[in-house]
Amino acid sequence: MNQKEQLEQIRAAAEEILQKTGSLEELDAARVRFLGKKGELTAVLKTMGSLSPEERPAVGQAANTVREQIAAAIEKKTAELKAKAQDAKLLRETIDVTLPGEAVDIGHKHPLSSVLDEVKEIFMGMGFDVRQGPEVEWDYYNFEALNIPKGHPARDTQDTFYITENMLLRTQTSGCQIRVMENQKPPIRIIAPGRVFRSDAVDATHSPIFHQIEGMVVDEGVTMGDLVGTLDTFAKRLYGEDTRIRLRPHHFPFTEPSCEIDVSCFKCGGKGCSMCKNEGWIEILGGGMVHPKVLENGGIDPEKYSGFAFGIGLERLVMFKYGLDDMRMLYENDVRFLNQF
Ligand code: DAH
Repeated sequence: MNQKEQLEQIRAAAEEILQKTGSLEELDAARVRFLGKKGELTAVLKTMGSLSPEERPAVGQAANTVREQIAAAIEKKTAELKAKAQDAKLLRETIDVTLPGEAVDIGHKHPLSSVLDEVKEIFMGMGFDVRQGPEVEWDYYNFEALNIPKGHPARDTQDTFYITENMLLRTQTSGCQIRVMENQKPPIRIIAPGRVFRSDAVDATHSPIFHQIEGMVVDEGVTMGDLVGTLDTFAKRLYGEDTRIRLRPHHFPFTEPSCEIDVSCFKCGGKGCSMCKNEGWIEILGGGMVHPKVLENGGIDPEKYSGFAFGIGLERLVMFKYGLDDMRMLYENDVRFLNQF
């Protein structure tokens, strides 16, 4: 076979292979095979030495033509394969913009948190600061300094989780009163919300963990009238302008005199209904004038200063505000319940 025939054979072989080639890798292999430095075309050119000088130009030209033809065919095929790959990719990545989007559930505040925020807003609006005390507390702050010495019957009503003989989970936020007085001189105007703990069995109105909001005002000349005015304003802001409060005498070791405070039922306005058990009134807090001994324990002179204090049960506020009859709903975190707020 002379060179011209060899070239023709290479051209034909290349044409056939390129026709069948289905991938860019195969195409590259064909390029190496026919046009590469060690390829078939080069091999033919290397035999040109055996030709006469007259024959060489024609064979050289024929070789160039074949090279150009194969190169052009490879280029064309490359473009074809790339376009095909691009089409397939676009098809794979098609987005149907008419499909409905995925709804994202947005969380929101737990009713205990949102009512507490409201309470804080109301008291801050009256010039109160918000403080916090520790949940693990000394017996001293939780009882002793609040005029509840060891053996005092008031200890029995607050079933206490003791950690050591002198350390416990606080049963009330009232210990914050002492902690604040130790660190601040009058005028004092604070609320101290937080979790409290009692060894109670769980039922519709009891939980071993619940929340209180302590309040205290200490200054010169503070009277029971200030307590009434402050809590009356609080009740009206929280439950509406028509709300009234009433005080009933009570006893707490750390206040003297002491009272329990009811608000008029905001559902029936005081006539009596299922919410207020036909009383017309709902108890929401305890309070009174800070006992002189408690002021003294806080390092404040009871001859010069006086104060009032109160303790609010947050769960009760929430239950009455939303008409809930079972406290457990507030802790179970059932989203079907929580989504209603
Ligand atoms: N600590 C009391 C309780 O847990 C509530 C309370 C009553 C707090 C009277 C007070 C107060 O500050 O003056 O039942």
